[in-house]
Amino acid sequence: MKKYISIIFLGALIWACGDSDKGSNSNSSKKQSVAAKAPDGKKIFKRNCVVCHGIYGDMAINGAKDLNLSVLTLEERVEIITNGKKVMTPFKGVLSEKQIAAVAQYTIDAFNKKE
Ligand code: HEC
Repeated sequence: MKKYISIIFLGALIWACGDSDKGSNSNSSKKQSVAAKAPDGKKIFKRNCVVCHGIYGDMAINGAKDLNLSVLTLEERVEIITNGKKVMTPFKGVLSEKQIAAVAQYTIDAFNKKE
């Protein structure tokens, strides 16, 4: 008898867990769609750009320019990030227009400090 009770209890537990998983899944997909509306330039940079530009923008691997010294406007940066330049790979199709704009703005905000 004890065995049956624990089996029923286990079944209820699994059912309850399955149900709460569904709940958290729909929550996290909601969060993702909010994040997609306002792309985080810093995150995008960390994920896509540090391999060549480094976390401080000055690593200059493979002939990448030191972003701290860049004098390009936001539009020019968007253009280079979208279509690439020499060794730099184009991000068209990899990042959305909004993500490219956000990461371009990030390179200005984070690295382009003129003293
Ligand atoms: C494969 C290596 C590589 C990756 C990855 C890369 N870059 Fe570049 N980047 C370069 C190189 C090389 C140049 C210099 C191109 C040239 O003018 O010869 C450059 C140039 C630039 C410039 C222009 C700087 C200037 O003043 O001329 C910007 C802005 C820039 N990258 C931003 C980014 C951003 C933002 C990302 C991520 C979305 C990124 N790069 C990813 C290699 C890379």
